[in-house]
Amino acid sequence: MKGKLKIRLLDYLIAGALSMMIWSCTYDVNPTEPVPDIVSYSQDMQPFFDASCVQCHNGGGLSLDLSPGVSYDALTTGDYVNLAEPANSLLYTKIAPGGSMEQYSTSSETAMTLKWIEQGAENN
Ligand code: HEC
Repeated sequence: MKGKLKIRLLDYLIAGALSMMIWSCTYDVNPTEPVPDIVSYSQDMQPFFDASCVQCHNGGGLSLDLSPGVSYDALTTGDYVNLAEPANSLLYTKIAPGGSMEQYSTSSETAMTLKWIEQGAENN
């Protein structure tokens, strides 16, 4: 009776330790929010630019201005979004792995950006 109880406790401890290890691993890989089903420019993309890009891309010298109110026109009238080949869009390749802006975008923000272009790069 006593022996069985001990084994059970040990089982719980091992299961708990394992699940904590697995949890911390997956947490590392995907640190932010999941990508929305329909990416909204105003609700998802602009807040991402505001938090991660506008400190530099604010019309003060860099060619691409990502400030609220002007970013959508800047992206879609410049050569940053390629609707025929979304993964070749400069906006995406710059923040994708290996791009010079990669460090400013999390993996989910990068995936969200590609999805926004794939969904037609709408001003939604
Ligand atoms: C610390 C300043 C800084 C931050 C933050 C930053 N950038 Fe940049 N960005 C630059 C500089 C400098 C260049 C020009 C050099 C280059 O292309 O690597 C540039 C270039 C770019 C270009 C190419 C522009 C062109 O006309 O060729 C894109 C697209 C871009 N950044 C997107 C982003 C996005 C999206 C973010 C936010 C996730 C971001 N950047 C955050 C400094 C920054």
